[in-house]
Amino acid sequence: MISFEALFKISYGIYIVSSGNKDHGNGFISNTVFQVTAEPPQFAATCNKNNFTAGFIQQTGAFSVSVLHKEASPDLFGRFGFRSGKDIDKLEGMDLAYGETGVPIVLNDCAAWLELRVVQTIDAGTHFIYIGELVQAAVLDETKEPMSYLYYREARRGVAPKNAPTYIDKSKLAPKPPASQV
Ligand SMILES: Cc1cc2nc3c(=O)[nH]c(=O)nc-3n(C[C@H](O)[C@H](O)[C@H](O)COP(=O)(O)O)c2cc1C
Repeated sequence: MISFEALFKISYGIYIVSSGNKDHGNGFISNTVFQVTAEPPQFAATCNKNNFTAGFIQQTGAFSVSVLHKEASPDLFGRFGFRSGKDIDKLEGMDLAYGETGVPIVLNDCAAWLELRVVQTIDAGTHFIYIGELVQAAVLDETKEPMSYLYYREARRGVAPKNAPTYIDKSKLAPKPPASQV
């Protein structure tokens, strides 16, 4: 038996994963970035094969991770989480820096950022898992708390689209009892 509610008990953060260069780049919202080794510091990012950003990561062999803080604008989620770079230039008008590898780093509503060079790509079916070795990392705003996936879902009432690895179809969840029975 699988309780899909149990999967909501796994903790994640909220990030923008970006790649490309000064002329062309793109990014997407991700909650599946995590550290895999300490020596050397390596991180994994899980990217749907249909994401426009996947092509940039493959071309450049690098990506950046912007750690979004709790007050991050809802516009960022709309632009980076629900629209594709196939249709709009997501980086236009954003506050950007460029890493040593040349990848764009989104600085808007960002508490910290990382830059990674891809050392391994794992084919996980619908998604690629990019393992990246840390090139650079910086704290942008010490006063801001990073946003968790739980906070995004509960306090911000945020949802994730179908191509997010942690998407759960509502039909798989047990119906909630009416408020009077709670
Ligand atoms: C909260 C949230 C978490 C997400 N997590 C992931 C993720 O970890 N991996 C992924 O491939 N897509 C994830 N997505 C979906 C992508 O952000 C979304 O499909 C995006 O439009 C892809 O952009 P692109 O085609 O411009 O690369 C998430 C979306 C949201 C809103």
